[in-house]
Amino acid sequence: MKSLRAKTAVLVVAAGGLVALSLVVAGCGGSSGEGGKIALLLPESKTSRYEAHDRPEFEAKVEELCEDCEIIYSNANQNAAQQQSQAEAALTQGAEVMVLDAVDATSASAMVQKAKQQEVPVISYDRLILGAPVDYYISFDNEKVGELQGETLSEKLGEEGSPNGPIVMINGSPTDNNATLFKKGARSVFDSEGVKIAKEYDTPDWSPDKAQNEMEQAITALGKNGFAATYAANDGTAGGAIAAMKSAGITPESKPTTGQDAELEAIQRILAGTQFMTVYKAIEPEANTAAEMAVALVEGEEVPSGLVNGEVNNEMEDVPSVLLEPVAVTKDNIDETIVADEFWTASEICTSAYEKACEEAGIE
Ligand code: BGC
Repeated sequence: MKSLRAKTAVLVVAAGGLVALSLVVAGCGGSSGEGGKIALLLPESKTSRYEAHDRPEFEAKVEELCEDCEIIYSNANQNAAQQQSQAEAALTQGAEVMVLDAVDATSASAMVQKAKQQEVPVISYDRLILGAPVDYYISFDNEKVGELQGETLSEKLGEEGSPNGPIVMINGSPTDNNATLFKKGARSVFDSEGVKIAKEYDTPDWSPDKAQNEMEQAITALGKNGFAATYAANDGTAGGAIAAMKSAGITPESKPTTGQDAELEAIQRILAGTQFMTVYKAIEPEANTAAEMAVALVEGEEVPSGLVNGEVNNEMEDVPSVLLEPVAVTKDNIDETIVADEFWTASEICTSAYEKACEEAGIE
């Protein structure tokens, strides 16, 4: 099967046509061809993608493109103040480009301002920074992520004879613009399909433990039979929600639960039947694109033509953007997405507890 990654489409996200492909960022601190320091600031580590995919894939690509580049890496553990200090430290250490996956979409504008004062360009990575003059934005079509979660779940509810739910909605962190977009996309489907929302929560810090508490509250308020399914915005919150159902004596198989990120544990839960779906976002093209841009900027060169294909407004300006396509994953297509793309290999997924389920799902 042909790798999905090879086919990953890049979307044009806004009207207004292509932005100048050969954008040069004025005042870039790097000098041509000599490498330089690139700051990579990631938001948290409870979600496995950052340390398992984003960081190593970004680092590998930078290393491949620029042997004299150095990466200053930090992870903020979902603490906005800590991220601010990490950004300041990176600037003090001489970072010439900042790739920032912000904990807090709004307060991060202070970091952008600081970087810009020092003529350091900023790439808003995965999460859009609002109200700040960022140079580029690289992410997935995040409203589409929510739509995929909503569509796959409401189709399942129809099959199970509960087309109107009701459901419990466990959303992501209120400080993450992506969480707003996931919710918007999912809600648009639930509204149009007539799926009722019995209880809804925003989960501070995307914390799986807090998601578990929210689900416990929902079960207490609604009773075991008071809801038909759970919308969880990502696999971490899905894990929390499923744990709450189990400890309340609910069979998770009977309450289809969504997710996102194609975390290894979530793929295994999907095979076991305790989680219904996830959304696969191929991190490699996202990290690679960010690395290509960062290297061009640090070397004072033009960003390669063809990378930027659209614009997204961040409440201050239209930011030149790259948005990639997410894919819905259920038991039926793990093999042709996750395994074909080598996001996880069959042997990583099919440990002894999952051997039989893997066989049934055609994963070898
Ligand atoms: C990312 C998700 C991730 C979540 C929690 C979002 O901004 O797009 O992939 O699960 O943050 O870190």
